[in-house]
Amino acid sequence: MPTAAQAEAPIGVFDSGVGGLSVLRALRAQLPQENFVYLSDAAHAPYGERTDDYLTARALRVADYLIGQRGVKSLVVACNTATAAAIEEMRARWPALPIVGIEPALKPAAAASQTKRVGVMATRSTLQSAKFNKLLDSLQDQAQFVVQACDGLAAAIENGDDQTTRALCERYLHAMGDFGQRTGQIDQLVLGCTHYPLVSAVLQSLAGPGVELLEAGAPVSLQTRRVLDQAQLLFSRRAEGLTQLLSTGPGEPLGRNALRWLGLDLVVESVQTGGAG
Ligand code: DGL
Repeated sequence: MPTAAQAEAPIGVFDSGVGGLSVLRALRAQLPQENFVYLSDAAHAPYGERTDDYLTARALRVADYLIGQRGVKSLVVACNTATAAAIEEMRARWPALPIVGIEPALKPAAAASQTKRVGVMATRSTLQSAKFNKLLDSLQDQAQFVVQACDGLAAAIENGDDQTTRALCERYLHAMGDFGQRTGQIDQLVLGCTHYPLVSAVLQSLAGPGVELLEAGAPVSLQTRRVLDQAQLLFSRRAEGLTQLLSTGPGEPLGRNALRWLGLDLVVESVQTGGAG
């Protein structure tokens, strides 16, 4: 039976950068009483074009820091790329710790699609991963999936470079084909990288109003609630929890985006986790 102090410990959330804020937003809405420590691994971003070995080394290093130095009671890997590469190793290393990952929402997209043509935007590394390809294979009979590696898009979003972001969104959506609700058109667009929901207004305007954009922040927050409940680690109190923001690299993008997307006006703490880079 966990102690009260364990339940009071924060939930660790991490991503290569600011993308995981789209997940933190859903987590804070679902679990407002919990304390969160969000770590942006900006010194090693972007993750999306890295090798599995590099990503696994980073994920283990960041998790080790959050567990050892920040005493987190659970971890949310708010990054599709790191989840695909490393979640199994993380669970093997910390078997008693609830660890929740994120993966592109292919299944709900296939179920909701009328045209049975689904677009998937993600990083190159996610799309090449065994985990993603297993998921894709399991759904081949349910819809046709048009997958698009979006090199450079997470970095442009991270840097707040609106012009490059828009140009890349245009290029990648164009490469995927026609969007809409007619036969042969893509009517569901899966945002398979946590950075992309931060520019969903741009994507929606390019894809058109009839296209549904799917992100996995809300399901991840529900799953986090479930696993904490099962482990009897939910923090039950009336007051709102605290959030801390950490970065291994420049803190400015994280501070700016946390204010913009979550209304959080916080100083970003600079941290060293060591390891590859
Ligand atoms: N936000 C991350 C994801 O969900 C990775 C973006 C990147 O660093 O390339 O995949």
